[in-house]
Amino acid sequence: MTGGFRAVYGRDPEGVWAAPGRVNLIGEHTDYNDGFVMPLALPQTCRVEASRRDDGVLRLHSSAAAGGVTEVRLDGLSPQGATGDRGGWAAYPAGVVWALREAGLQVGGADLHFESSVPTGAGLSSSAALEVATAVALDDLYGLGLRATRVAELCRRAENDFVGVPCGIMDQMASACCTAGHALYLDTRDLTQRQVPFDLAAQGLRLLVVDTRVKHALGDGAYAERRAGCEAGAAALGVRTLREVPIEELPAALDRLDARLRPLVRHVVTENERVAAAIRLLDAGETHAIGPVLSAGHASLRDDFGVSCAELDLAVDSANAAGALGARMTGGGFGGSAIVLVRAEAADEVSKAVDHAFAAAGHRAPRIFEAVPGAGAHRVRAS
Ligand code: GLA
Repeated sequence: MTGGFRAVYGRDPEGVWAAPGRVNLIGEHTDYNDGFVMPLALPQTCRVEASRRDDGVLRLHSSAAAGGVTEVRLDGLSPQGATGDRGGWAAYPAGVVWALREAGLQVGGADLHFESSVPTGAGLSSSAALEVATAVALDDLYGLGLRATRVAELCRRAENDFVGVPCGIMDQMASACCTAGHALYLDTRDLTQRQVPFDLAAQGLRLLVVDTRVKHALGDGAYAERRAGCEAGAAALGVRTLREVPIEELPAALDRLDARLRPLVRHVVTENERVAAAIRLLDAGETHAIGPVLSAGHASLRDDFGVSCAELDLAVDSANAAGALGARMTGGGFGGSAIVLVRAEAADEVSKAVDHAFAAAGHRAPRIFEAVPGAGAHRVRAS
C-alpha cells in the first residue's frame, strides 16, 4: 500500500498499521457462552495509514468504498448519530474511536485511510480487522499504552454497542493477539490464552480456506436468535453460562430442557469438548488427528446449531470425500467460509474436487486459498 493516504489527504501519514482477518480452527458459537475457541490469524490484513489531527475531527476513507471521505466531529459520535446509525463500513472505525473515548482514553482527531485484503462478507473477520487496525493505530499515535487484550475488548464494545452487532470476543482477540505460526487457545471467560505452535508445513499438512462467496441475508437475526437460545438454555439449567455445564452432566441437562433448546445446548457443550480434544492432539504433536474433530464440529453446527448452509455442507462433504483429513465451516455460518485440513500432497486434488462439486451443483465458483497462521495486529512502518 503506497500513496493512498497522500492521494486522499494531501500529506504523508505518521505511520502504517495492519490487523489480520482470521479463521477459527475449532470452538464455534462458544465465545458468547464463556467457552473456548482456537482461531489463527490469516496473512490477509486490513492496513491503515494514519495521522493525528488537532481539531477534534475524524476523517475516514477506504479504498474499497465508494462515497469518498466520511468526516465526523469526535464530540458528535454516538451510537444513534454520526455514522453509528448508517450501518456502513465507517461505523466500525468510528465506533472504535467512540469506545476508546467512552473508556476515558485521551484520543483526539485523526485522518485514516484503509486498504484491506481480507475478503469481506466471507466469515473471515474483515470487520474485526478494521476495528483492531483502527485501535492499534490510535493507541500508538496517542500513546495510550493499551495491551492487546484491552484493544480487543474495546473493539468488541464498538461492534456491540456502536455498530449494533451482538458478536462475542473471538474475532477481535484473534486479530489483536494471534502470533505467526500459532493458533490462539483462548478461554473467553477470563481471556487467558496460550499460543499453540501450529506449523502445518513441518508436518506435511495444509489448511485450506474455501470461501463459498455466499452471504445469507438471515445471518444477523439468526445469530442473535442462537445467542438468545443459549442464554435461555443456561437460565433453564440454573447456570450463568453454558460453559458451566460439564460434559458428564449433559444427558441429564438435556432431559430438563424443551426440544427447542436441547440441540443448541448440546452443540455448545460438545463443542467445548472438541476444543479440549483438539488441544490435547496439538500438544501431542498429532495435528493430522484433529481432522475428525473438525468434521464432528461441522456436523454439530449443521444438525444441532443450524447455522450451516448447502454451500458450506458441500464444501465440507466434497473435501472429505476427496481425501481431506477433516473439514468444517468456520465463523458465524449462514454462508462464508469452510476450512479443510489436508495432507500437502492431496491439497490440489481436494481443491479441484471442491471446485467440481460447486460447478456440478450450479453454485458460484468458491475462492480457495491456503491459511498460513500470520501475525496479529502490528505497526508496519513509521511513516
Ligand atoms: C462470529 C462472531 C464471533 C463468534 C463466531 C461464532 O464470527 O463475531 O464472536 O461468535 O461468529 O463462533
